[in-house]
Amino acid sequence: MDGKALASPAAPYNDDVIRAFTIATMFWGVVAFLVGVVIALQLAFPVFNLGLEWTSFGRLRPVHTSAAIFAFGGNALFATSLYVVQRTCRASLFGGPAVASFLFWGYQLFIVLAASGYVLGITEGREYAEPEWYTDLWLTLVWVVYLVVFAGTILKRREPHIYVANWFYLAFIVTIAILHIVNNLSLPVSFFGTKSYSLFSGVQDALTQWWYGHNAVGFFLTAGFLGIMYYFVPKQADRPVYSYRLSIVHFWSLIFLYIWAGPHHLHYTALPDWAQTLGMTFSIMLWMPSWGGMINGLMTLSGAWDKLRTDPVLRFLVTSVAFYGMSTFEGPLMSIRQVNALSHYTDWTIGHVHSGALGWVAFVSFGAVYFLVPRLWHREGLYSLKLVSYHFWIATIGILLYITAMWVSGIMQGLMWRSYDELGFLQYSFIETVAAMHPFYIIRMLGGALFLLGALIMVYNLRMTVKYGPAATGQPALAPARA
Ligand code: HEM
Ligand code: HEM
Repeated sequence: MDGKALASPAAPYNDDVIRAFTIATMFWGVVAFLVGVVIALQLAFPVFNLGLEWTSFGRLRPVHTSAAIFAFGGNALFATSLYVVQRTCRASLFGGPAVASFLFWGYQLFIVLAASGYVLGITEGREYAEPEWYTDLWLTLVWVVYLVVFAGTILKRREPHIYVANWFYLAFIVTIAILHIVNNLSLPVSFFGTKSYSLFSGVQDALTQWWYGHNAVGFFLTAGFLGIMYYFVPKQADRPVYSYRLSIVHFWSLIFLYIWAGPHHLHYTALPDWAQTLGMTFSIMLWMPSWGGMINGLMTLSGAWDKLRTDPVLRFLVTSVAFYGMSTFEGPLMSIRQVNALSHYTDWTIGHVHSGALGWVAFVSFGAVYFLVPRLWHREGLYSLKLVSYHFWIATIGILLYITAMWVSGIMQGLMWRSYDELGFLQYSFIETVAAMHPFYIIRMLGGALFLLGALIMVYNLRMTVKYGPAATGQPALAPARA
């Protein structure tokens, strides 16, 4: 992280691939948010399913979740990890431009294969791992190449130390490889067919699926994005990490605890009681390292809090860390069996998901992309900081509308399901709960539309930065330009 050390790499950094991944992040981000708004609209007004199988909620929902997590989030992780590893190791990417280009196009092909399959009804039906076997095999190849490029760059580093952000990225890459392979062990029905069946069945299948599902949250949506936090927050704040020791404790405790927490998705199921309790206990323990990490991120601003008034990019980054803290407080709470009895199957879960997804994952990615674009295209600064500020406020209002609507709707839904009248009969029919949730579905849709509007403002601002921003002289400028 030493400024002088970063300025003289052994070979020029490979930034072409990072520019490509950055553009892909923005493109898939808009697609994911747009499909999110469409499915929110469908939940509020089912007529928007259009009566066609391809545009039905059931098919578009996995398009949204995969586009958001793997296309938007995944491209952001590729862009930032490959940027950070080169800078902090003072080395160009291992494997050279051809391998980097394979990584980019290989990953985009995976996204297109997955999404087109969903729309056509080709799915394994495993949440967050819906693609069929041929797409899974392709991703395995791309991912192994990613691991080789990333680890190879670390091995050829000209810096004795491996900066902590790289530890988080490496944990993300290695763990996702293991999760992906084990969860997708399946037998294709025929070589030329698209259908396959999982090697697991019954409760083992459920446990494997949620071991994968929860660690996709832990390692894709958390560890990878913590890599972003540990590099971009100190850079944008121009301060060293608050406590390097805490970041190491954060790393090891998170890695150790996350992997056990999956059974909290299977409370009150056929899964043995002890396994459910294990999942709950490790989830509650996770609160501590998560908050340790949040405190480390926030305290990095010690002595620089005033920058929040003038730097909207830093505002994105800091707000994302606050949302990280909020969703990692809510998660352990929801993992307690008695709380889960109320929250499970309700919109409360959807509220929790999106406080993490929009507030943490998307905001930290926006902060990183705003940081990257002027540097990658050698501009003095962003086209307009005012537009960044508009984006920030519009998106924040959108998130607040989304998650508060889901909290109210979810808790109301859970309470209505468990209400009895004085004779012991259920007080509400299922359809009455659906009718009661309707206004909140409209509010969620409006919140999502605001979030999408903010992202479109960002795309415009960055396009203008690349097209018209004043070129930086020599090395990319580090300070934002216009107010
Ligand atoms: C404009 C922004 C967004 C809107 C309007 C939106 C809307 C939705 C809707 C309507 C659902 C289905 C809820 C249900 O089945 O009851 C959903 C599910 C989901 N979305 Fe989003 N979303 C947005 C952004 C994101 C982002 C950025 C991410 C991740 C980075 C994300 C991840 C997910 C996940 C993981 C689920 C599945 C949740 C579950 O099964 O519990 N969404 N979203
Ligand atoms: C300490 C950290 C966390 C813990 C212990 C935790 C715990 C939980 C629990 C108990 C559920 C509900 C399970 C159910 O009733 O089926 C859940 C759902 C979920 N959480 Fe978290 N959470 C944490 C952090 C996060 C973060 C930071 C994100 C996103 C960035 C996230 C994304 C999700 C998703 C996507 C689901 C929905 C899974 C599904 O049912 O499809 N969680 N989490």
